[in-house]
Amino acid sequence: MQTKILTTSTEDIKTAAAIIKSGGLVAFPTETVYGLGANALDESAVKKVYAAKGRPNDNPMIVHIARASDIGRLTPMLSPVIISLIDHFWPGPLTLVLNKKQGIPDATTGGLHTVAVRMPDDAAALALITQADCPVAAPSANLSGRPSPTKPSHVIEDLNGKIDAIIAGGDCRVGIESTVLDVTGETPVILRPGIITEEDIEAVIGGKVEFDPLLLKNEPQNDESGDFKPKSPGMKYKHYAPKAQMTVIEGHRSKVKSEIERVKKLNEMIGNRVGVMLFEEKAFREAAHDFFAKLRELDEQGVDLILAGALSDTDGVGFAVMNRMLKSAGYNIVKV
Ligand code: TXA
Ligand code: MG
Repeated sequence: MQTKILTTSTEDIKTAAAIIKSGGLVAFPTETVYGLGANALDESAVKKVYAAKGRPNDNPMIVHIARASDIGRLTPMLSPVIISLIDHFWPGPLTLVLNKKQGIPDATTGGLHTVAVRMPDDAAALALITQADCPVAAPSANLSGRPSPTKPSHVIEDLNGKIDAIIAGGDCRVGIESTVLDVTGETPVILRPGIITEEDIEAVIGGKVEFDPLLLKNEPQNDESGDFKPKSPGMKYKHYAPKAQMTVIEGHRSKVKSEIERVKKLNEMIGNRVGVMLFEEKAFREAAHDFFAKLRELDEQGVDLILAGALSDTDGVGFAVMNRMLKSAGYNIVKV
């Protein structure tokens, strides 16, 4: 398949929208990461997304809309809490898990009774969804298991020749995927942390938010076989894995730095190529923005080992970055 590389021009967005309408696949920028879009109501289009990514088909997709009022096509009922979250955070990096309305294909929701919905904060994405005139299912536009794409070049690297078109916008502003919040129960539950934090959400709803207990356990959840059924099916799959072996070094900043130097030297002495990932202290947003791009960059350099310094004294955003870092490293942590 020849993949068209499009721009964010009006003409190109029109072309991309026509592809979505006719059941094709288009990768597009959002403020978080690039998404791989298909008509969420077209089962055969959605199935093509799984095939292009090599994604397990019980891992449901996020459905993207361009107007908050379009949520009525996807869910039967909105509580006051849901309405205030939408008012406050949309468009933006907050995905809401809601009870699903009939008519949404099982392929889109991985057979669940719920549907994840968000309105992205990106002009090209909103124009594309508006013109396609349907809700757009879009997982991150990477091959399954690879780091999420934050630049057009990342999408091309993974999906060129496998999808109909790529809208090559700029770098994604946020760099990590949206916060996923389950609002189907009494207390909202964060299933995936992002730059919209527990505190941000609590301030808006004036009540408690919980974390899915799996997020607080520093251990792999990638039991892909049997009966393990986390609330967010994406949690059980190995994620964001670089080709290199990766270790997270955790502890006081100065100790982390010297341990990284020590292990790097020893490895280089025996001929291993070592990549280092160390972010500015407390620059959590910057770390979020750079994390996936850095991971891909180190892979491209062909390093054998990645040594990553854990972010210390994390806030909510730092916690979200650490969630990705620990998954990438397969929870391989050294404490110093
Ligand atoms: O920022 C983002 O959310 C990006 C951009 C493209 O919007 N999308 C994204 O999609 O990260 P994806 O498919 O890579 O991750 C979606 C996550 C998965 O972990 C999936 O299991 C979870 O959301 N999810 C989707 N639908 C769900 C549902 N009904 N219930 C629970 N979790 C759900
Ligand atoms: Mg993904």
